Amino acid sequence: MITIRHERSTDIPARERLLDTAFGVTRSAKTAERLREGRFAADELSFVAIENGRLVGTARLWNIAAGLGRPALLLGPVAVAPDARRRGIGSMLVKRALGEAKRLGHRAVLLVGDAPYYGRFGFSAAMTAALRLPGPFQHERFLGLELAPGALDGARGLVRATGQRVPKGLPAFLTGILPPRQPVPHAA
Ligand SMILES: CC(C)(COP(=O)(O)OP(=O)(O)OC[C@H]1O[C@@H](n2cnc3c(N)ncnc32)[C@H](O)[C@@H]1OP(=O)(O)O)[C@@H](O)C(=O)NCCC(=O)NCCS
Repeated sequence: MITIRHERSTDIPARERLLDTAFGVTRSAKTAERLREGRFAADELSFVAIENGRLVGTARLWNIAAGLGRPALLLGPVAVAPDARRRGIGSMLVKRALGEAKRLGHRAVLLVGDAPYYGRFGFSAAMTAALRLPGPFQHERFLGLELAPGALDGARGLVRATGQRVPKGLPAFLTGILPPRQPVPHAA
């Protein structure tokens, strides 16, 4: 049986091994990583998939601004263990993450990823047409989803990281542990 639950600090080593397997050396070079490095993930929005006590999937959301004065979230990295793929675990993780984000009052989610995969959850490149990322990216892979209708209307400019900073001196792999609670922007 697959369980999707909030990530715990004890999950971090297994999560990191899974991400190394899924993305290898390209991992830290990604432009999306520039919006995550040195920050905590968004409060209550890190998830893992567990099967028979083993961590087989991960999905996290990060606080960003989609242009000036427009709080949003960044989804990723999403990964499932190679031997556990094509059984719906990725979909379960993405749906849970989006559902919880909406419940917490977040209004929009951006990501860099494959449109043929993320289109099924409603993500589209049309939503990010006037936005840009702090590094090289392919526009057809830069996708957005509104959790509240109209949340990305007129969104333009540079996407910036807004997540709480990890205190200097803590190792980078600790990002994703639960930070002190932070207020949710535009909570309904
Ligand atoms: C993408 C990923 C998370 C999907 O996990 P999963 O548990 O296999 O996903 P699901 O079972 O919900 O969906 C599988 C379906 O998505 C399709 N799919 C997987 N990756 C895809 C991609 N990049 N583009 C299009 N379709 C894709 C599969 O072919 C499969 O199709 P089917 O339902 O017709 O058989 C997993 O393949 C993975 O970890 N890949 C490596 C890391 C990665 O690319 N992450 C996404 C970018 S952040």
